[in-house]
Amino acid sequence: MKGVLITLEGIDGVGKSTQHRLLEQRLRETGLTCIVTREPGGTAIGEEVRQLLLKMREEEMALETEILLYAAARAQLYKELLRPALEAGKIVLCDRFIDSSLAYQGYGCGGDLNYIKKVNAGATEKLSPDLTLLFDLAPQEARQRRGNIDQKSEVSDRIENRPEDFHYRVREGYLKLAAANPVRIKLLDASLPAVLLLEKSWVFVKELLEKKELL
Ligand code: TYD
Repeated sequence: MKGVLITLEGIDGVGKSTQHRLLEQRLRETGLTCIVTREPGGTAIGEEVRQLLLKMREEEMALETEILLYAAARAQLYKELLRPALEAGKIVLCDRFIDSSLAYQGYGCGGDLNYIKKVNAGATEKLSPDLTLLFDLAPQEARQRRGNIDQKSEVSDRIENRPEDFHYRVREGYLKLAAANPVRIKLLDASLPAVLLLEKSWVFVKELLEKKELL
């Protein structure tokens, strides 16, 4: 496909949303247009699935259900937004993608990594990002940062309900994914000030866009 898919990953509270916004701004300042989206969600159907996934409820959702629902939202995003945009040569900035399922449902919850890969390959016709920016931060620091966000939101409630070691496993999972995919996944130190982190990310984004002759 002619376009480029750049994904942003990291545990909750690393400042991913800020980086997403800054990167989008930098792309626009450079004279490039980009499409921004997020997971789970990004489409009307995907946002409905997001509500299902992130809602607090009495009973626990089965891991298999969770894996399939994330993949279902992703399938919709792929069909409705990602494939057409990438075929049209657009730059897409996506907050989370398949690596999130591998890190959270796989490493974090103990789900079968090969199964998660297979289901998601089916959901996206084996789409793989051109570049993944992994924002890495110690879980205790991420927890502190999360303390500053709205504790009343559904997402933060659900996250805070998870045992502490869950976040450690997710982070370790991400680091394993980065070690296994050194060309695609770029590890970034999220403890750096936001503007400095943007400059570090931009080096990788610029390199990719030049390679694809988009810049
Ligand atoms: P997100 O909206 O990115 O929350 P935040 O902005 O706080 O990082 O993600 C919502 C939650 O969904 C987050 O805890 C990670 C989780 N998630 C998974 O567990 N698996 C997945 O495949 C995806 C895409 C997200």
